Order: sequence, then C-alpha cells, then structure tokens
Amino acid sequence: MDIPFDSWHKAIYLRHSQRKYSGEIPDDEVTERIERVCNEFRPFPGARAVLVRDPAKEVFKGAVGEFFYKVTQTPYYITFIGDMNSSNVQSVMGYLGEGVILEATALGLNTCWVGGFYRPEEVLKQINLEEGERVLGITPIGYSKEESDRVGVSSKQYRRKDLSNLIISGDADESWVKTAVEAARIAPSAGNRQPWRFDIDEDSITVSTNSRRRDFRVSRRLDCGISMLHIELGALVSGVKGSWEFLEHPEVARYRIN
Ligand SMILES: Cc1cc2nc3c(=O)[nH]c(=O)nc-3n(C[C@H](O)[C@H](O)[C@H](O)COP(=O)(O)O)c2cc1C
Repeated sequence: MDIPFDSWHKAIYLRHSQRKYSGEIPDDEVTERIERVCNEFRPFPGARAVLVRDPAKEVFKGAVGEFFYKVTQTPYYITFIGDMNSSNVQSVMGYLGEGVILEATALGLNTCWVGGFYRPEEVLKQINLEEGERVLGITPIGYSKEESDRVGVSSKQYRRKDLSNLIISGDADESWVKTAVEAARIAPSAGNRQPWRFDIDEDSITVSTNSRRRDFRVSRRLDCGISMLHIELGALVSGVKGSWEFLEHPEVARYRIN
C-alpha cells in the first residue's frame, strides 16, 4: 500500500488520545477503510493490526493518574500484534500501528494507543494469534463522547519537549529535515515520555532511544517506531523520499534519502 502522506501528515496535527467514546458505530464505508488499512499497510514484516468489531466488554482497565483513564464505550477496537521472533518487532509495530491510527484520524475517528491498561486475556477471547505472536498494544476506535473532543474540533495537545532537547547532533536547517523532526516531536508516546532523539546528517536522520527502561509496560522502541513514521511523512510532504535501515540499541533506525 502506498502511504497517503498528505492526509496522514495532516492527521498528525489533528490526533490526540481520546478515552471516552459515544458508542456510535462508524458507518460501513468508514469501517471498510479501516479494515483495508489494517490488511494492506504492511511496510515491514513482523507486525499486523486487526480490527475487532465486537464490544470491548472487559478489555480496558482503569487507573488513577494523569494519563491513564479507563477507555469507555468504544464501539470497536484495533489490536496491534507483533511476531516476537521477528527482529525490530517493537519499532515496526509502532510504525505500522501509527499508520492505522493516522488513517482513522483522517477519517474523523478518535483513537488512543493503549499499551498498559488493558487485559490481554480478554483480547485473546476475541482474536486468534499465530505461534510466537503477542498483542503489544490496542486502540479504541470510534467517536468521542463530547463533541468538543472530536477530530477536527478539538485543539487539545499535550506538552512536548523542545527540538533543542531532542536533536543530539546536526541541525534542522534544511526544510525537509525541519518538517520531519517537527512531525516526530509531537508523536504520541507511552506516558508522554518522548524517548526519541535525533542525529541529523546531510542526507539522513537517525532515531535513537534515550534509555532501555521499559516503564508503562511499553518498549521505548515502539514509541520510536511511531516517531519514525512521522519523520517519513514529514519528508514525503516535502517531496523527499528515502528508506529505513534498522539499527542496534541505543539507535533504532536511520532514514536515508534516495
Ligand atoms: C505506545 C503507547 C502506549 C500508551 N499506553 C497508554 C495506556 O495504557 N493508557 C492510556 O490512557 N494512554 C496510553 N497512551 C497514550 C499517551 O498517554 C499519550 O499518547 C500521551 O500522553 C500524549 O498525548 P496525546 O496522544 O493526546 O498527544 C499510550 C501511548 C502510546 C504511544
């Protein structure tokens, strides 16, 4: 599947995490487009997304805290499944899952990456896994309960680190680099920890993670995979194509322009 980079890049700036839903079921055309992106957006091996068109029932858990409210009344949810024998499974999962989330956002649907506060055993009652696979995260998908929180209406955005704290070498003077790292800067991450760091070279951007710690029950490499897609979307809307090379810790991957 070719990346619809214009609409996904716009969606970066429209998306926010939404946890309270109206229960309204998306119409057939919207649902089919979500099914299609789940089935067809497979940029790298080792990860897949599956739409669950049944009520989430006991799937979402609650916890008291700034970010982790319980998800309620979502009509559908999407599971993000990784093949744990595949190298780079976490970063590939982040990249692929974020593609699905941005397509949903472009269709006017609200979402929320959920890595910790759900019950995997309940998810497993509704999907089938192949050997070696694990659910690495899920997202509710539907319309927010409050009109003011809907995609395109809300201007809600969490605080993000300054680019000066994220760029470890090089600078973002070139216009494609600026668009790319700005898009990556506002990516979502577990607990809003923003673990991505960037090394900028003449023809490449390298994404690294700031630690090996796995708090919020989510690998930082998964967050970095999300920021990788945002980098690529920023490059593509600037007319710059490239490709990814996966790297060893603390580096995650390098986007080198063609
Ligand atoms: C991989 C990942 C896992 C997350 N897990 C949870 C979660 O378990 N529960 C939750 O309420 N929010 C979760 N979030 C949402 C983050 O808290 C949210 O993305 C971050 O605070 C930034 O806010 P925004 O998405 O509205 O921009 C997760 C986000 C990511 C990317």
